[in-house]
Amino acid sequence: MSDAPLTMRAYGRHLFICTGDQCNGDADGAALAQYALEQLGERRKLRNPERVKCSTVSCLGVCQRGPIAVVYPEGIWYSQLDHDLVEQIVQAHLINGEPVEAAIFHRLYPVDQEPEYAPAVRGDQAVNPIELQHDQAVEQLEPIVVAGTQLHSTEEKQRYREQVRKLRKGKKGLVIVNTGNGKGKTSAALGVMTRAWGRDLKVKVIQFLKHENAKFGESRAAAKMEIEFGGTGDGFTWTSKDLDATKAKALHGWELAKTAISSNQYQIVILDEFTYVMAFGWLDVNEVVAWLATNKPELLHVIITGRDAPAALIEHADLVTEMREIKHPFTTQGIRAQIGIDF
Ligand code: FES
Repeated sequence: MSDAPLTMRAYGRHLFICTGDQCNGDADGAALAQYALEQLGERRKLRNPERVKCSTVSCLGVCQRGPIAVVYPEGIWYSQLDHDLVEQIVQAHLINGEPVEAAIFHRLYPVDQEPEYAPAVRGDQAVNPIELQHDQAVEQLEPIVVAGTQLHSTEEKQRYREQVRKLRKGKKGLVIVNTGNGKGKTSAALGVMTRAWGRDLKVKVIQFLKHENAKFGESRAAAKMEIEFGGTGDGFTWTSKDLDATKAKALHGWELAKTAISSNQYQIVILDEFTYVMAFGWLDVNEVVAWLATNKPELLHVIITGRDAPAALIEHADLVTEMREIKHPFTTQGIRAQIGIDF
């Protein structure tokens, strides 16, 4: 038996998932834990660079909201686990260090006061030499140095993101554009809003040109669903004498949109009638596209609606749908907008 001192690398994050049979949810905790391990599988071949560990525990004591997952050292609790949420927790929280805010039901520590993610968790300096021999092939890979959740250089960040990207197995936050002269652009976006709500995803809707005090069916529904749904006048103060108020509010809306998109608090952000702000020349489409390309989180979906989507936006988007009017009751029968159908 070797007298060599045993060295261990610190764990970065530790995920616990309950497997008791008391939980209310349909999902099976053991199967979800297995799924979490599968999600981490590729990274384990890379010697688990973030030193993530996944364990099962019989019951975490919150069965009525189960299955439950807890991530340490932050002490962040997630409830009502399903496969989608496990995937988000693994990719966003365990690997990227960004808790899945929308799914948290309890924090052990106040935001920003959580214990630090173990520094240099890859632990290359402290690796057991025996382990090094076994891992020689993997060791050819350049190490990723993680300090806190921050990676120091742009090159490191890019390499890290590339690895994460591969693990996401084709998942991507889409830029979706609903344009064209036919009815249904906003309706389609609101359909996604409802679908996402049904999946417990966090959605924010910003309406660019509609009157901010309007109480349309969709804004009433959003209020009942507790979805953040607002106009561009939210928080707006206007002093400029050079812009008309509509334009100034629209530009303010873009600032609200940028804040929402870069906040990492939502899974879907809908910018309703945003194409007009660009089509009217109030905002340079190239500026919008460049900002989205740089700042939109990888898994966030952004949906933009409105006629006359500029070519550069169409070029940048992942999914573009043109609503084409074939027949409309107003043009053929003079029937105006009706409650529940149009507003
Ligand atoms: S069995 Fe899941 S919390 Fe009790």
